[in-house]
Amino acid sequence: MDMIPQECMNAPFHSTYIAKNVQSEICQTLILKQNVFKAMDQLEGWCSLDKASILVDLVLALKPHVVIEIGVFGGKSLVPMAFALKHNNRGKIYGIDPWIASISAEGMTPEHAEWWNSIDHEQIMQTLITRIGEFELNDYIQLLRKTSEDAKVSKKIDLLHIDGNHSAETSYFDVTKWVPLVRSGGIIIFDDLDWDTTVNAVEWLNTHCIKVAEIKSTNIWGIWLKP
Ligand SMILES: C[S@@+](CC[C@H](N)C(=O)[O-])C[C@H]1O[C@@H](n2cnc3c(N)ncnc32)[C@H](O)[C@@H]1O
Repeated sequence: MDMIPQECMNAPFHSTYIAKNVQSEICQTLILKQNVFKAMDQLEGWCSLDKASILVDLVLALKPHVVIEIGVFGGKSLVPMAFALKHNNRGKIYGIDPWIASISAEGMTPEHAEWWNSIDHEQIMQTLITRIGEFELNDYIQLLRKTSEDAKVSKKIDLLHIDGNHSAETSYFDVTKWVPLVRSGGIIIFDDLDWDTTVNAVEWLNTHCIKVAEIKSTNIWGIWLKP
């Protein structure tokens, strides 16, 4: 909101001014979310509209400089956060994903591994790159085609979304590698916290961070605060 002009400092002008501006902020957020939801129709992935809406709210509230997403796939959760960064006019989201079928299949049940191996990861990534250009989000997104193990980010993280390989080994690796890089007061989002394979990762998060919310939509995911 802009500085309140001097002539509006006295009632009733002051309250009218606040009402108008607060309303316009709410309208702007609603328009932003409509655009996000429309963009999500053109993206592959699993992020629900409910989750995207909360991711957008978190970016608007935190005004982060550095957002990291582990596990991007077709950008369905990455792009909503990038739209919110553009709305803030600051910050960058680094999307870490190797887009390699055999790595997606690592540690999965035979049924899940078969599914991952059937997906053309190269095409998923190329389509995402095209969409990012069409949405004019290039200034707010950097894709790092690397595994979570190999990727390096030198800056402190404000907001971290972990949604990579859900095997017991990799999900535990992801929290223990990336959460220590989140600044105090930063936010961690962890997907599919109810899977048998993510038990150890979630226990580690509960021990080292403050659980803020557990949200059930098309799946169960959680939000933690870094102490
Ligand atoms: C569940 S999908 C991500 C979904 C996406 N966040 C969404 O909401 O639509 C998991 C992704 O993790 C990626 N992945 C698998 N192993 C990985 C690893 N070791 N490091 C980083 N990403 C990995 C896969 O390529 C896949 O795209």
